[in-house]
Amino acid sequence: MPRILSGIKPTGQLTLGNYLGALRRFPSFQEGNEPFIFIADLHALTLPIDPKLLRENSIDIACFYLASGLDPKVTTIFLQSSVSEHAELNAILQNYLYMGELKRMTQFKDKSSKMKDEAIGMGLFAYPVLMAADILLYNSDIVPVGEDQNQHVELCRDLVRRFNGRYGEILKLPKASVPETGARIMSLADPHKKMSKSDPKGDIFLKDPMNVTRKKIMSAITDCGSEVTYDPVEKPGISNLLTIYGAICEMTPQEAANVFKGYRYGEFKKAVADKVVEELEPFQNRYLAIKESGEYKDILRDGAARAKKIAHKTLTKVQKAVGLLVL
Ligand code: TYM
Repeated sequence: MPRILSGIKPTGQLTLGNYLGALRRFPSFQEGNEPFIFIADLHALTLPIDPKLLRENSIDIACFYLASGLDPKVTTIFLQSSVSEHAELNAILQNYLYMGELKRMTQFKDKSSKMKDEAIGMGLFAYPVLMAADILLYNSDIVPVGEDQNQHVELCRDLVRRFNGRYGEILKLPKASVPETGARIMSLADPHKKMSKSDPKGDIFLKDPMNVTRKKIMSAITDCGSEVTYDPVEKPGISNLLTIYGAICEMTPQEAANVFKGYRYGEFKKAVADKVVEELEPFQNRYLAIKESGEYKDILRDGAARAKKIAHKTLTKVQKAVGLLVL
């Protein structure tokens, strides 16, 4: 059965971007695949974060996973830091990716551009190495991610080719799966910027009360003109809202634009807000109930034990391949 692997890092409040680009799709992989979905808590340390917040965010993500419809009997759900093989494989793989490659990563350039060298942690620079370890430990076939992570999966593929070229067919070549609609949700305050966990104005957070979500959509930046058409260059604001609507309704933004022919901007925004609330309200209620029940604890413990068995096998295979003495 094909293995699916993905993760979300608990750095801040999850956004509608995380939901449409990644989380919402995870449960659809449960049939006919073997999914491994984890909380990338070690990756969350790559920028300064308050320990209390990191713990709270990690619990939130576990509950969001369950609220999205992931069934822990089918999907192995776990914390990255609970499976020490991630860090161990990371220590080996870091020797097979190079400074030049890591420096060219868009995420690294974005995040480090305003920082002094003295403040950039090694973990931020080597972020894709740990991500490759995550993917490769489970012999993953498919990695569902939003567009911004595609480059990291490509680098992981380069690493596999390099590693296997040297040691034989040891690592499985994974493939990213990016959604057709919703791979890059933009900020509602600035549709030229990606919606990200660190942009409170332009973000819709999954924990926002529904009246706040509605208000954010109603006051989203729109464009000149008055027609609702899909044109990311001329009408980035309207196109982003069409993408959001399309991703929820599983249609292309162009198809969504056809639904709104003849609508005024105000009416259109209200329809998008209704759709987002219709989607997020039950999801948020499930999340709250799951958090209250505390059931995530056993699920994470169980998931880590299951994940560790598979991860350990791959780690041993790699250790042997590179010449480490496995006794
Ligand atoms: P993170 O937490 O930054 O993002 C989680 C997922 O959300 C997607 N995403 C978006 N999709 C659409 N529009 C947006 N505005 C948007 N913002 C974020 C991301 O592409 C991602 O799929 N590095 C990963 C975590 C990770 C991982 C892995 C993923 C660590 N190891 C191994 C896959 C496989 C990340 O970006 O998390």
